[in-house]
Amino acid sequence: VDVTLEGYAHYMLKEIYEQPHSITNALRGRLDKDNATAKFGGLNLTTQQLRSVERIVLTGCGTSWHSALVGEYLFEELARIPVEVEYASELRYRNPPTDRDTVIFGITQSGETADTLAALREMKRKGHHTLAICNVIGSSIAQEADGGIYLHAGPEIGVASTKAFTSQLTVLSMLALYFGRLRHLSYEAGQRIIAQLEMLPEVIQKTLECHEHVKHIAARYADATNFLYLGRKYNFPTALEGALKLKEISYIHAEGYPAAEMKHGPIALVDEHTPSVFIVPNGTVYDKVLSNLQEVKARGGPVIAIVDHEDPQVANLADEVIMIPQIEDFLQPIVASIPLQLLSYEIALLRGCDVDMPRNLAKSVTVE
Ligand code: G6P
Repeated sequence: VDVTLEGYAHYMLKEIYEQPHSITNALRGRLDKDNATAKFGGLNLTTQQLRSVERIVLTGCGTSWHSALVGEYLFEELARIPVEVEYASELRYRNPPTDRDTVIFGITQSGETADTLAALREMKRKGHHTLAICNVIGSSIAQEADGGIYLHAGPEIGVASTKAFTSQLTVLSMLALYFGRLRHLSYEAGQRIIAQLEMLPEVIQKTLECHEHVKHIAARYADATNFLYLGRKYNFPTALEGALKLKEISYIHAEGYPAAEMKHGPIALVDEHTPSVFIVPNGTVYDKVLSNLQEVKARGGPVIAIVDHEDPQVANLADEVIMIPQIEDFLQPIVASIPLQLLSYEIALLRGCDVDMPRNLAKSVTVE
């Protein structure tokens, strides 16, 4: 592909900054305001068939698997459909009993990941309808699936996925809205969700303003050897993705956990040299995450907190506070991922790492 840096130091940085645009492209033509729902051209299922879906399996690898985890929360909350999330590499060799009305989504930026392709083939062989959420047009998975949705994010060159991730989440949100509107979700609820989705590009643009601040924070923690990333509910997958980004490009050991689970092991790692990144915006689990944050602070661990409003409680406890704009909780992973992408980018640079081509990693893994 003929893609240039257009003045950016790295493709990863360029792709981080493209997100207001790539999300706009994911949304384009897919919001149906009159009916307070979303619309997709290529699912290749009748409304009747869609209405009778009883289970959804979301599968993928790496960052795409993290999108699947967010998808699980989205489909359960907005559409009330039971969801299973499977690593493609596990799904292909397992023999899960699946109901007749199960639909499989393979989530993949490249459309070429060998395990995801094999998992979809196996499910297709069993007679399930397979759908791809994919970025690369005409890729192997796009061709083999029974239908699907393109991200239209443009080529992603940096090995660490950024804009593809936020586009996957945007598409999954619209899908959950769509399935929800076929079931119990009201017209008003659909309208509210559409209004939130439409705000996204502008919100992401605003979020990018945290870059300078994040750069300063990166300088203070670039020498750490361990990092924890903690969040709950929708931001549990955000924590996993934040940790993966740091591992991939800065080679710092990082773990993401649902914040409360930290008491069952990871808290043993906490000391004055192990920073914890807490994703603690407003929402139903705010108080719970705050108390997890207190536990870490009480053990002398440095805390970097991501908040979405002036928050004196967090400010008193945390060593660093990063502010992101407010949005409803089901879209928070998209917004909260931006400072996490920037944090790993800046730390990797300070450590002299090759951010676009990290060691031992490939953009798409076409072998088992
Ligand atoms: C590789 C890449 C990751 C990516 C994963 C899945 O490991 O380095 O960034 O998340 O593959 O790729 P896919 O193209 O299927 O989303």
